[in-house]
Amino acid sequence: MTLEQEIAKRRTFGIVSHPDAGKTTLTEKLLLFGGAIQKAGAVKSSKIKDHARSDWMEIEKQRGISVATSVMGFNYKDIKINLLDTPGHQDFAEDTYRTLTAVDSVIMVVDCVKGVESQTEKLMEVCRMRNTPVICFINKLDREGQDPFDLLDEIEAKLAIKVRPLSWPINMGKGFKGVYSLYEKSLKLFTPSKTTIAESVEIGDINDPEVERLVGENNAKQLRADVELIEGVYPDFNVDDYLQGKVAPVFFGSAVNNFGVKELLDTFIKIAPPPIDRETSVREIKPEETKFSGFIFKIHANMDPKHRNRIAFLRVCSGKFERGTNYYHVRQNKEIRFSNATAFMAQDRETVDEAWPGDIVGLYDTGNLKIGDTLTNGEKLMYTGIPSFSPEIFKEVINKDAMKTKQLEKGLLQLMEEGVAQLFTYDLGKRKVVGVVGALQFEVIQFRLKNEYNATAEFMHQGIYKACWISSKDERKLAEFIDSKQRHIARDKDNKLVFMAESRAWLQMVQDNFPDISFHFTSEFKA
Ligand code: G4P
Repeated sequence: MTLEQEIAKRRTFGIVSHPDAGKTTLTEKLLLFGGAIQKAGAVKSSKIKDHARSDWMEIEKQRGISVATSVMGFNYKDIKINLLDTPGHQDFAEDTYRTLTAVDSVIMVVDCVKGVESQTEKLMEVCRMRNTPVICFINKLDREGQDPFDLLDEIEAKLAIKVRPLSWPINMGKGFKGVYSLYEKSLKLFTPSKTTIAESVEIGDINDPEVERLVGENNAKQLRADVELIEGVYPDFNVDDYLQGKVAPVFFGSAVNNFGVKELLDTFIKIAPPPIDRETSVREIKPEETKFSGFIFKIHANMDPKHRNRIAFLRVCSGKFERGTNYYHVRQNKEIRFSNATAFMAQDRETVDEAWPGDIVGLYDTGNLKIGDTLTNGEKLMYTGIPSFSPEIFKEVINKDAMKTKQLEKGLLQLMEEGVAQLFTYDLGKRKVVGVVGALQFEVIQFRLKNEYNATAEFMHQGIYKACWISSKDERKLAEFIDSKQRHIARDKDNKLVFMAESRAWLQMVQDNFPDISFHFTSEFKA
């Protein structure tokens, strides 16, 4: 097959949702369709449930599971699908943000009872930053949920994206009869079942009396009224608008009952984008370019603490990746050869000899690679669009065992490279402050420092509201600012300047007082 053909048959995407909306269940059903697993229950949830807060074995176990399910590759109707898993627990949201940089599109799961929840809002913000195409799956229609029109309004309002239903539920909860496909003009009748797939009934005309017979008089009347309203209110579905991230097609179903999932998948492979062009520091790269390039978006370290092994996840962006070939590591300005590359198929890992744009390759690494690193065939460029976001909670690292200072530093460095948290080092006194999205991460860091590096650290709360990356067109003004705010200036992992703002009000005041300084909540910005 040619490079173009390999690209055309690939779809690389992620499923995002608020915990418990049904991401794991949907993943499993998709894998069943792809023949990648044989029975339900094979996909372990990679979420860390709240009750597991202090259960370290659980966290370690989940870490193991999440390596296994990080990338699930499978084939469906001649399409090679790469599904990238995202952690469900919101304390690990940063990991999810980064994974979203490696996908070309997203399926968003919303629980019809709970509607749009906070985690979904945040994730959607990340999708919007990159205009990622989104398909929405409204799940759990077998439960008494909110009115479907209200749900659509809520999605539009809270997620700031236009929606276009492509299927429509007929009643819900106990009275749930099925969905009407607005796309194919067919009815799909619901029978609760975890294994069988509902057959669809073609109906040429929604006014056909057959509809009454199939779903009952009241439901038929309601459906006709709903469809009329939809056709009147929502513009026709336009694939280009979807591809530009302007409109999200919406499907209704019940993942656990395997209902509505096949329609979702069939539409997905038809409309979801194959690998797309990507921005770099130098120019836009097209996947069809024959020269290989890709970037690292995730690192998993120390699965076996006795061996300091790490797996770096590489997203192939252009050309062909070949095992055992020398590639240029742009940040380190040196050639590296990876003889131990792995591909991810379902839940198995196997050695891979070649990979194509859209594919994810696991590279065994001894400490050369960091999140955001670019590998190429020799060209000097860096993929952009893999920013760090300002953390929410900040604590200073206190070394509790002076004899193990080296171990602590090494451990911290490696955990940060893995992206577990962000480290900010103050200019003054070289104080080290760790920033995370959720409190659970501190417990994970403390545990892993002890377990993997034999270092003992404690964390002292810091009253910091946000880490703001700062820049200015005027070098002199920037220097003056740094001078006057010395106590609050730190550096991130790449030695970029960061202003540690203590409160929202204070930040506002500082912004007003220093109009020549730009404050950014992500590490990547246009100066
Ligand atoms: P997550 O990965 O998004 O966190 O959600 P997950 O798939 O684990 O689903 C959360 C719960 O919702 C699970 O129940 C799952 O069975 C249930 N669920 C998923 N899809 C549907 C659906 O269409 N209808 C209904 N009624 N429930 C659904 P659980 O009790 O937490 O776990 P389990 O014991 O059933 O596995």
